[in-house]
Amino acid sequence: MMAAVVVPSECVMSEKLVIGNWKMNGSAKLVDEFSASKFPGNVIVAVPFPFLAYAKSIEPTLKLAAQDCSTLDGFGAHTGEVSAAMLKEVGCEAVILGHSERRKSYSTDTPQNILLKLENVTRNGMTAVLCVDEEYEKLLDAETLALVKEHPDSIILAYEPLSAIGTGAAMTPSGISTTLQALRTKCQGIRTLYGGSVTPQNAEGILSLPEVSGVLVGGASLKLEAFRAIAEKAGAV
Ligand code: PGA
Repeated sequence: MMAAVVVPSECVMSEKLVIGNWKMNGSAKLVDEFSASKFPGNVIVAVPFPFLAYAKSIEPTLKLAAQDCSTLDGFGAHTGEVSAAMLKEVGCEAVILGHSERRKSYSTDTPQNILLKLENVTRNGMTAVLCVDEEYEKLLDAETLALVKEHPDSIILAYEPLSAIGTGAAMTPSGISTTLQALRTKCQGIRTLYGGSVTPQNAEGILSLPEVSGVLVGGASLKLEAFRAIAEKAGAV
């Protein structure tokens, strides 16, 4: 039997993208607040696994991302794993992969395993948001680069320098431009996000850079008004 053709999710267009990464934070109450709020522009919220299906059920128009997925796809006897197929089923548009907090804390988030996850996400018709940091030369090995080049429409690179994540010290706009240009040279046609201490105050300067296709927002994505302000800036640049 022929496999069904899966069309990559259209979660990103030329409009700047704003992804909120809640990390291991949030609650059903916060999901309620976000669901009741119509965000302007192209916004995706990466809530923890337990809230994904709930968020979709109360507000089907809210675009959702997961913060990781299994190296295994489909369904099976793999206790504790969450597959890309399941994330697709509950309505996720995107999956964040290889976040430095995971690469640092979990020895299983190796480049080889992240590659498997990338394949699973793209196979299931979602967008993979592949995070890299200052060590991007090492993280983007030949196999990962080949996959990224093969799927320019369904893989996005998010550059998140370790020095900027959760520190309140975002990279300078000129530093962001230079690095994202280098990433774009490495992966022709790829869209590039910046992440690391993005706030309503610095969002406009960052989002107006031509190399920035959008932002990945951690801390500020937990406060509805701050997140909305960033989304408004993205819609206005
Ligand atoms: P931050 O986190 O915005 O709190 O710096 C960004 C991220 O880790 O994705």
